[in-house]
Amino acid sequence: MKMDWLLVFFLIAIANGAHGQATAQSSVAPELRECYMDPNLVNRNNLPPTTMPVLIDIIRKIENNPNINLDLRMLSTQLLHTFRQDGIEFHQRGTNAPSSSIVLPFAPTFHSFHRHRLLLRIVPSNQQVLPNNTLPSSLKCALHNMISTTVDARVRGDENTCGSLAQYRALRTVRSPRSRRSIDDDVEIIDLKQLGEHRNGHMMQNDPDSDVEYAGSVSDRQLLGASACPILTGAVNTHWGAVSAGNLIAGIAAGTETQQVPILELTKGSVLNYQNVQSTITTVFPATLSGDLAEAVLVQGTAGRTSITVGNAGNWNSSAATRFYMLSGRTNVEMTDPEIRGALDGFFLGTSLTETLRTFSSLKLSQLLDMYYNPMNGVFNSNLRACNRRELSQQLIVVSNLIGETRAFTAALDTVMPLAGTLTGGIEGLVDSAVSNLQTYINSNLNDLNCAISETARVVTRLRTNIYVVIDASWQYQTIYPAISHIVESLEVGHFGSSITILSAFDGSVLINQTFSPADFHVEYTQQRHLTFPTGVNLQTTFANVRAMMQDQLRNETTLNYVGGNATVLLFLLNAGNIENNANVAQEARLTADYVPDLRVLFATSAAQTENLSNLVREPLTDITTVSLAAGGTNVGTALGATLVGIQNVGRRIINPLCGSAFSAGSSGTRQLTQYVDPGYVNYYRISPNYFFGNNDNTRVRVSRTGGGEGNLVICHSRSVSAPRQNQTLASLETNAVTCQNLGATGNVEINLAGACGGFSTILSCPPLFFSVEATALTTNPPATCTDAVQCRFPYDVAYQIQVEDLQCFSSGTIAAASIMILVLGIVTNIFRNF
Ligand SMILES: *[C@@H]1O[C@H](CO)[C@@H](O)[C@H](O)[C@H]1NC(C)=O
Ligand SMILES: *[C@@H]1O[C@H](CO)[C@@H](O)[C@H](O)[C@H]1NC(C)=O
Ligand SMILES: *[C@@H]1O[C@H](CO)[C@@H](O)[C@H](O)[C@H]1NC(C)=O
Ligand SMILES: *[C@@H]1O[C@H](CO)[C@@H](O)[C@H](O)[C@H]1NC(C)=O
Ligand SMILES: *[C@@H]1O[C@H](CO)[C@@H](O)[C@H](O)[C@H]1NC(C)=O
Ligand SMILES: *[C@@H]1O[C@H](CO)[C@@H](O)[C@H](O)[C@H]1NC(C)=O
Ligand SMILES: *[C@@H]1O[C@H](CO)[C@@H](O)[C@H](O)[C@H]1NC(C)=O
Repeated sequence: MKMDWLLVFFLIAIANGAHGQATAQSSVAPELRECYMDPNLVNRNNLPPTTMPVLIDIIRKIENNPNINLDLRMLSTQLLHTFRQDGIEFHQRGTNAPSSSIVLPFAPTFHSFHRHRLLLRIVPSNQQVLPNNTLPSSLKCALHNMISTTVDARVRGDENTCGSLAQYRALRTVRSPRSRRSIDDDVEIIDLKQLGEHRNGHMMQNDPDSDVEYAGSVSDRQLLGASACPILTGAVNTHWGAVSAGNLIAGIAAGTETQQVPILELTKGSVLNYQNVQSTITTVFPATLSGDLAEAVLVQGTAGRTSITVGNAGNWNSSAATRFYMLSGRTNVEMTDPEIRGALDGFFLGTSLTETLRTFSSLKLSQLLDMYYNPMNGVFNSNLRACNRRELSQQLIVVSNLIGETRAFTAALDTVMPLAGTLTGGIEGLVDSAVSNLQTYINSNLNDLNCAISETARVVTRLRTNIYVVIDASWQYQTIYPAISHIVESLEVGHFGSSITILSAFDGSVLINQTFSPADFHVEYTQQRHLTFPTGVNLQTTFANVRAMMQDQLRNETTLNYVGGNATVLLFLLNAGNIENNANVAQEARLTADYVPDLRVLFATSAAQTENLSNLVREPLTDITTVSLAAGGTNVGTALGATLVGIQNVGRRIINPLCGSAFSAGSSGTRQLTQYVDPGYVNYYRISPNYFFGNNDNTRVRVSRTGGGEGNLVICHSRSVSAPRQNQTLASLETNAVTCQNLGATGNVEINLAGACGGFSTILSCPPLFFSVEATALTTNPPATCTDAVQCRFPYDVAYQIQVEDLQCFSSGTIAAASIMILVLGIVTNIFRNF
């Protein structure tokens, strides 16, 4: 009964909903044309990198758009109809051809377009496409590129570096001991001599592989076949391998197991070449696995193959800010590695969507992706996450179903796809071969990070750090941009995470405005922009101007009654050697520490300058690092390792908002803020002695749980360990330096700060209070308890409240002035007790 109803619904949807989608037409959709015409948008170096955090960020911008109110399923469908157009290729004009202003040399002619066109009928939408102003052009084109699959095989001129792509592979291999790929997948084996031949226009005549790909004209084919490592568009970088996001989103849009589509509806009356196939298909299959398998069967089958090859490895040509995914070969590009991963992930998320939405019906698409591509917890079920892909493929794919669905979809696709031959029979055997080769490939070639390693290697700190990166423009863009991109990704710059602001080392002025959006950051920080940055380093002016800005912010925070919750870090990332440091600089740095006590100052310099800069930071040994950055970002991970640990250990500040910039106000009274932590993660906090130096009897902090949330909270505090945590390994001197308490569903943990600076004569010598809130890892599937979309990154986040009582205001600056006055009055005893 239910299925019949769905069938009827589907037929109606097809009848009504065939809105003549622009992305289904055989020319570039009008609203996507600017992505192929505007030189700034055509050059992908100007667009945000294709990474999962950027994709999630762009999707979240659409979700947060007040004019768009679509649920998860509708939004994913609309993304496919509006922004996905697979198979767009460049068509080289002959050298003598006239150039024409009315011709855009791009059209959807690659094989992936035909499947896409059919898919839009299988996953119909009865709404208009999203309005053109939903996203700015740069993000629209970035999203289009991320979800549209095509292969750009034009010769770029950098093919001599195809082989060096392997070095990034090596990095991944180190992280995943299980990684082992067959030799065929290795990029290095590309024969450059052979490439040379192609460059001279001599295609090897009888290589069946060369003919497999393209069904266009001979001259087109020769040009397209030219790059030894063609670019695969539509690949998005994740910690668990590159993923074709088009397949991923399509799987989610297709989303329920029960939706059956009669095959004859798809072929619009065309006579099927093969009658012996099931009469309906289940939408999630053609949207994911069967779609790519059918392409491979038809393209390779018509080239005379009897064994269908799936899988084509490749890699990014950079390890930071990934934009170009280069395939290791130009044949067998119907079901590449990223497409396999995207198809698997889309299949798992699509088939489990009903169950997922039963747990939390208002789940957002951005949250679904965020949960799945996360080292822990998964989509309300720790099995359902990207690191578990291989195991999921064994559990969730029923091979006989996959074969039946793929045969049926192959028959349907065959009626719409131009091919270099006509298959007159035998598709059963070809599909069997493709499915069996896919199983083998998933089990032995797709060696992505597994869950055990992902969990051990994860950064357990969830950061909310407002980082201000001060750069000097003597850095080459190719060197500094990948480094800053790495910082953006590592600090989780994002709606629920950190922000980044770029300042000038010449005078502390703002070069790139503060942003919580990684996509916006990358759109802003282009090479062109970098070239306009002022050169030179002046620490004195920079410190003075940064202090003025931060004090302005403290005044604003008084107005806003901000109690804290974010960390603030000023990171000098300097290339200039022998940085001028003199008494004036030191004075400015000291004033900054006095009046902006929660701003942590860190230096990362290309030449070792620890001694020369040591008086400008709090802990010279950890706060000053030397970074040797290589052009192209090949070593950012290692080069910035120590710097990032320094940033990660800066706790979120908790403040008395009344202090403002003058530190002359009185008690905070009782105030609170609500915070969130995910199971298995920890948030660190820091309270400066400036708020409790006076040894007030009533100064204290309390942590209590608000709302539900599974699992236990553990609260640890310390005066010497800046990131205190239960069960951490400490130096022997520190064994008793950390105190931890469990926090149940009711009650609270109280940290008393009465007398906490007793025995310290200056504020700077009195250590801060460090504390942490950790949610222990879950052993059961979490319910959705954190349902506020504005506040909760994940629906299973645990909410808690931090309450402060009687925080005071002291600054070394005001104390120094007051001390002089007191000395003048001749009162010399027990100065600080009188405050
Ligand atoms: C909207 O579409 C037109 C072309 O149809 C394009 O010129 C314009 O720039 C688009 N606007 C945005 C904001 O994308
Ligand atoms: C990657 O390749 C693209 C396309 O050739 C090129 O524009 C880009 O500069 C390359 N990036 C790096 C880091 O080499
Ligand atoms: C603190 O971080 C949160 C989450 O990233 C952000 O929404 C908020 O605006 C930040 N607040 C400040 C004062 O930076
Ligand atoms: C920062 O934002 C302000 C206000 O939106 C704008 O006027 C200013 O031009 C921006 N500055 C930079 C460097 O982008
Ligand atoms: C403080 O608030 C004012 C007025 O809203 C704003 O112009 C200024 O940019 C804010 N300062 C900082 C540092 O955020
Ligand atoms: C510190 O910097 C000054 C000014 O550039 C330079 O003269 C001096 O040699 C440096 N000192 C050290 C220890 O590097
Ligand atoms: C610390 O170790 C104990 C015993 O192994 C464990 O039960 C507890 O959950 C751990 N605490 C944290 C915060 O991981």
